[in-house]
Amino acid sequence: MYKDRIRHSALLSKVMPAQDAARLFRNGMTVGMSGFTRAGDAKAMPAALAERARHEPLRLTLITGASLGNGSDGLMAEAGLLARRLPFQSDATLRGKINAGEVMFIDQHLSETAEHLRSHSIAPVDIAVIEATAIAEDGSIVPTMSVGNSVSFVQQARQVIVEINLSTPLALEGLHDIYTPGRLPLREPIPLLGPQQRIGATTIAVDPARIAAIVITDSPDSPSTILPPDAETEAIAGHVIAFLENEVKAGRMSAELLPLQAGIGTIANAVLHGLVGSPFSNMTMFSEVLQDSAIELLDSGQLAFASASSITLSSAMHDKFMRNIEHYRSKIVLRPQEISNHPEVVRRLGIIALNTALEFDLYGNVNSTHVGGTRMMNGIGGSGDFARNGHLSMFVSKSVAKNGSISSVVPMVTHVDHTEHDVDVLVTEWGLADLRGLAPRERAPLIIERCAHPDYRPQLRAYFEEACRGGGHTPHVLEKAMSWHVRYQSSQTMLAA
Ligand code: COA
Repeated sequence: MYKDRIRHSALLSKVMPAQDAARLFRNGMTVGMSGFTRAGDAKAMPAALAERARHEPLRLTLITGASLGNGSDGLMAEAGLLARRLPFQSDATLRGKINAGEVMFIDQHLSETAEHLRSHSIAPVDIAVIEATAIAEDGSIVPTMSVGNSVSFVQQARQVIVEINLSTPLALEGLHDIYTPGRLPLREPIPLLGPQQRIGATTIAVDPARIAAIVITDSPDSPSTILPPDAETEAIAGHVIAFLENEVKAGRMSAELLPLQAGIGTIANAVLHGLVGSPFSNMTMFSEVLQDSAIELLDSGQLAFASASSITLSSAMHDKFMRNIEHYRSKIVLRPQEISNHPEVVRRLGIIALNTALEFDLYGNVNSTHVGGTRMMNGIGGSGDFARNGHLSMFVSKSVAKNGSISSVVPMVTHVDHTEHDVDVLVTEWGLADLRGLAPRERAPLIIERCAHPDYRPQLRAYFEEACRGGGHTPHVLEKAMSWHVRYQSSQTMLAA
């Protein structure tokens, strides 16, 4: 079954069960695993390592591309395997361990991990675990549905474990574009001038002598967990589309728009889904994850090409994608995440960045990560890479959470991921606030009247009026700035009595 997938025949002797490969790990090691938002993650090694950690002392630093599927993060966290984890996660069990202070989580811009590894600013990777469709004649690795940080892990690790996943079609070969920036200080510009351009190899180069084990698996990626669009996400999409139409009318963009980036999650997917049937055509994406909506836009013929670092789909869309892989392969490229999210490239291409906020404040500061200012949700992911460097930085959110008891528009955010300087446009189901060229005192009324839920507008107006009486460039009433969050903690609602 697997022999035609290991084309470097000397490596056939390295095939072994995951339990045997797990013996290569030592307590305290740093491990780099493939996997990016549930796509292309190692399927067998996380469980085998968790099993070892249940019976003997084994604590690791685990670096990935982004979140893993298969409940792997939860399994490893539950077994006590994870001492440190970076740069992103989205698992409920691991989230609990992070918020209990049991796992040290380093919440990092996704473009930066590879650079930290390259410069030895963080502990180097001892063992890389990489999911592959095949191993080529020269020993190089053909990745599966994500590239993530796999190239950096393979370049640095003393030993590489390859998981060959038989469920992935061999036709995935050619989907990937593997390029890494040179070393500092004499680094050349990244020669990427458009989303559709290829600048590297199709496989990840590795000295076959460093491949210490090959494990065979046969299960697909975990399906995405996004929910279908609802009335609110449809309204958000409507506002975004009307705004982009206006940008075209004003002559600031053509009907092709500029390359689109869309963040993870239900809301960003719904907004992109809303573009199906819109007046825009021949669009491109330069994003980090492609969700179902990207495939829908390719199918509608409006999206000409999509560049990303991973593809995370629902089961039905995954089956369709795999059945038509030859077709989609000509319209999609997967890159290392330091290239898909690279500030240099994002700024050069003029990306329209569309990410999701948990909450934002009267002046446009955005919190995407910390519930109540303390509890980690998922992580900043690539949102900062795109928001800071994009041509147009938009943040979307529902105006309220938890049945209206939490307002997503607050006097002051409890944690800042994206500062007011990086945020151009805010959108909720109620409307859109275009903050470009506006001073803080001009931003606040617009955000209140366009974005806040009507139930919370009187409270926000009152806060802003009182703050303005105290003066300042960015007016605040410091003793009341966090009072909404405090009220929620004590009475389970931000609404004033
Ligand atoms: N306070 C507390 N909880 C809040 C909240 C707030 N202000 N706003 C939203 N939530 C909760 C929702 O109630 C929901 O909870 P549930 O899962 O228990 O139902 C959860 O957060 C997800 O919110 P939802 O409205 O469904 O949005 P989403 O699925 O689009 O996710 C983020 C939103 C912010 C969590 C998600 O986009 C994220 O992690 N972003 C950061 C990383 C990122 O932007 N990456 C982009 C580059 S790929």
